[in-house]
Amino acid sequence: MDIQTILSRPGAGLAPMAGVTDMPFRLLCRELGAAWAVTEMLSAKGLVMGGENRAAGEILARDPTERPLGLQLFGHEPLVMAEAARRLQGRFDFIDINMGCPAHKIVKGGDGAALMKAPLLAGKIIEEVVRAVPCPVTVKLRAGWDEGHKNGLELCRIAQEAGAAAVTLHARTREQFYAGAADWDLIGEAARTLSIPVIGNGDIKNGEDALSCLGKAGCSGIMVGRAAQGNPWVFRDILCALRGEPYAPPSIPERAALCIRHLDMACAFRGERSAVLAMRRHAAWYLAGIPNGAKIRTRINLMTEAKKLRALLQEIAGCPQEG
Ligand SMILES: Cc1cc2nc3c(=O)[nH]c(=O)nc-3n(C[C@H](O)[C@H](O)[C@H](O)COP(=O)(O)O)c2cc1C
Repeated sequence: MDIQTILSRPGAGLAPMAGVTDMPFRLLCRELGAAWAVTEMLSAKGLVMGGENRAAGEILARDPTERPLGLQLFGHEPLVMAEAARRLQGRFDFIDINMGCPAHKIVKGGDGAALMKAPLLAGKIIEEVVRAVPCPVTVKLRAGWDEGHKNGLELCRIAQEAGAAAVTLHARTREQFYAGAADWDLIGEAARTLSIPVIGNGDIKNGEDALSCLGKAGCSGIMVGRAAQGNPWVFRDILCALRGEPYAPPSIPERAALCIRHLDMACAFRGERSAVLAMRRHAAWYLAGIPNGAKIRTRINLMTEAKKLRALLQEIAGCPQEG
């Protein structure tokens, strides 16, 4: 599948989010209109040195209906990145290289956004990965390291020259992490100056934002991260906006009902204990804005059994409870 085909699907892509965008969550986003998705980031070195352990297996799990799906790799060693991509590429529609993760534990090893400070190495990594696989290779990067080093456009050009099929620009610096406004003008500049597609990312929270980012930046695609947490309907909202159709947000009972499905899918995917722990965060997101939210979140955060969480959600959803 080439990058034009992937980006020709209407709507927004689901951004990679470690600890959030596992297979169950991606399936719900897809059902509600996500055009494509990217896995959580996977350590290329971990895979090449340690093989496919349980944690890697969870990141690599995909449902056959999930297409197009990109695998995101992080690492700073060109040949290790290329080897990981070679081993896994047949299982995904494209490979995405992480050059944007700001987390200290990632950048201290020279990975993620640290590569914004090493443009030559960044170019070499992209070149080797492109050489290693027949599928499209995309690069996800930031506006720069900090305000004094905003070299995002230079990195975009390097990615293009190294053979990347597209770039996703999260238009914030590493220093900003997730705070402050994303600079959609910078996405526009990248879209105007590059010949490969530019995917805009950062602060797209609803259909209106999607239209204004696409209008302002003139980019080829958009990617949504945090706004999908507890709200996979954001993709339907965006599709409605693109089609000029009205959009009705889900009610609290509808949100609780989807959270029950999410919980059941998570239990089947990762086992009850781990699923309930992971679903505490998701449930708080689904129920954002509910009356007595703080009390409900406190109750949820003490739960370890799926049946207790399900019963609470069923009560909120107004559906009959079992037994
Ligand atoms: C919890 C969390 C985990 C993330 N994990 C990744 C990741 O694994 N790889 C990546 O490239 N970006 C990651 N990101 C960044 C998002 O993909 C996205 O670029 C960022 O959140 C900005 O988009 P948004 O404003 O739509 O959320 C993560 C963001 C969050 C909030």
